[in-house]
Amino acid sequence: MTELERDSDIDKTDDDVENADIDESELSGRAGKIITLAKRRGFFWNSNEIYGGSAGFYDYGPLGTRLECNLVDIWRDIFVIQEGYAEISTPVITPEMVFSASGHLKEFTDLMVECKKCSEPFRADQLLTEHHPQPDNLNAEEVNGMLTEFGIKCPVCGGALSEAYPFNLMFKTNIGPGSKRIGYLRPETAQGMFINFHLLYRYFREKIPFGVVQIGRAFRNEISPRQGMIRLREFKMAELEYFIDPSDKSHPKYERIKGLKIPLLPAGKPQEEAKPTTVAITLEEAIEKKILGSEVMAYFIGLTYEYLNSIGLSGPSLRFRQHGEKEKAHYAEDCWDAEILTSFGWIECVGIADRSCYDIERHNEYSGHTLAVTIHHEQPIEREVKKVIVDNKALGKKFKALSVKIKAALEKLDGNKVADDGSPLKVNIDGKDYEIDRDCFEVKTVTEKEFGKKIIPHVIEPSFGLDRITFALIENSYYERESSYRVLRFKPQVAPINAGVFPLMAKPELVEVTQKCIENLKNMKLNIFYDDSGSIGRRYARMDEAGTPFCVTIDYDSLKDNTVTIRERDSTDQVRIKIANLPKILNDLIEEKLIFKEIKAA
Ligand code: ATP
Ligand code: GLY
Repeated sequence: MTELERDSDIDKTDDDVENADIDESELSGRAGKIITLAKRRGFFWNSNEIYGGSAGFYDYGPLGTRLECNLVDIWRDIFVIQEGYAEISTPVITPEMVFSASGHLKEFTDLMVECKKCSEPFRADQLLTEHHPQPDNLNAEEVNGMLTEFGIKCPVCGGALSEAYPFNLMFKTNIGPGSKRIGYLRPETAQGMFINFHLLYRYFREKIPFGVVQIGRAFRNEISPRQGMIRLREFKMAELEYFIDPSDKSHPKYERIKGLKIPLLPAGKPQEEAKPTTVAITLEEAIEKKILGSEVMAYFIGLTYEYLNSIGLSGPSLRFRQHGEKEKAHYAEDCWDAEILTSFGWIECVGIADRSCYDIERHNEYSGHTLAVTIHHEQPIEREVKKVIVDNKALGKKFKALSVKIKAALEKLDGNKVADDGSPLKVNIDGKDYEIDRDCFEVKTVTEKEFGKKIIPHVIEPSFGLDRITFALIENSYYERESSYRVLRFKPQVAPINAGVFPLMAKPELVEVTQKCIENLKNMKLNIFYDDSGSIGRRYARMDEAGTPFCVTIDYDSLKDNTVTIRERDSTDQVRIKIANLPKILNDLIEEKLIFKEIKAA
């Protein structure tokens, strides 16, 4: 057996020194192991650690940053390239007026209580999880009733708690010096797309449906974030706003996805006793059974499912759960969450909401800008209508300068309601009544053509939380081989490093060949990690923990016969191939055009 084949002698605990500053015993079970691995290998860690850390803020290290970039690239490939939605980028700091209009100023709150003794703040619903199945659906009165009924005290010091009151989750700031202009850090990227609707509509040549996406940071001043990467105060979102005509909730590509079988957990009706359960059902059946209300909603559930599958989130730890009536956000008519099972329980990673016309209508009202769209008829619709037709000459003679305003007022009248007895008409101009005789106008039946109708578009919004997806993916990819040998089973296209490439030993003649191989692989745009320290087994172990799907080793035989060993992470199988074939083979493996077992040995 050569040194390369001895995968089994890999050091299972790896470098203890790197591990020294983390007390794994403080973290529970699987989540603890993952958080420890994430920090050691450079995926993520709590921010500002040397100053004691900051709850709700996480840094991404080199591997985490790369991993998230790959997830975003795949997202963009689906939503921007394949679907053709337009990507925009708008500022994080947003004037107060936008959030007055969107309802966030009033509605974007969680119920909070404070300890009267130690002043520790708590999300009120989190103190009631043992007493209610969905305490976040309770209103302030219900929460206060339950806090009293169950005698809930401060979990930190046992002190008495304040009454629950709504706490707005937006971070407030001043725009410019002084405190005149108030701004907020956006809690969602969506508003940037709504307030630009008129420009985007023009960009799409005044036709709906169309989709706009934004990827960026969002901020929520979460009351007491205690779930690591799951509940952050600053996080990243990838959001799509798909603008539709509400009278047409079909989707042009529905046929493609209607056969997808997806685990759906519908909200129970309050009057039904039996709790709903998850059903794996095709989207088409879900529409037939009225579990899903429209093709367009089904389409985005399907697309979200495909995206999650393509990055490696699939199987029984993925489901789509519908919000109950009380759970829905202030703007939502219907909402389905893509949830992933993690050691923190089922976690919402994507929210797919039917926001109806809520946002556009509100911005219409608050901004005074017309954000409506015209739906053009295929053929103009002709109809006979009775209209008041003004005799300009007669009116001008009688009313001089005022005739312009009178004409406008007369033409606004409904011709059907004008009596045909020849009596004069009354109009009110600037608070004064005027009587207009019949010689100034007549009522005529005319043919009117309607070319289109004005509507406020509705919006379907899939909203992806990238940090939760990243964490859920790391956790779902984690497994242990033998006792404590840790592996992240990332899909090759998602893995932060495509391949580790090593010289068996750090000898100049081996390093030279290794560097040449690396150069060729980098020319194929592959992300390669070079490592020449420690035993080869230890280097494999480091790559397995980083989720690197393949490793390539250059040894003394390579110098003789121009071959290298390529090793697969999950099977730990190895095969020797020609150096000249390495870039193509590795690239095909990463793109999953080739499976490892099919590689022909040199
Ligand atoms: P939750 O009920 O867990 O607070 P939410 O319903 O408020 O989530 P949405 O408002 O629908 O979440 O936000 C869309 C997506 O943004 C979520 O699916 C989630 O992935 C992500 N997200 C929301 N809040 C946070 C947060 N505090 N930290 C990290 N990601 C978040
Ligand atoms: N844009 C989805 C949300 O923030 O709720």
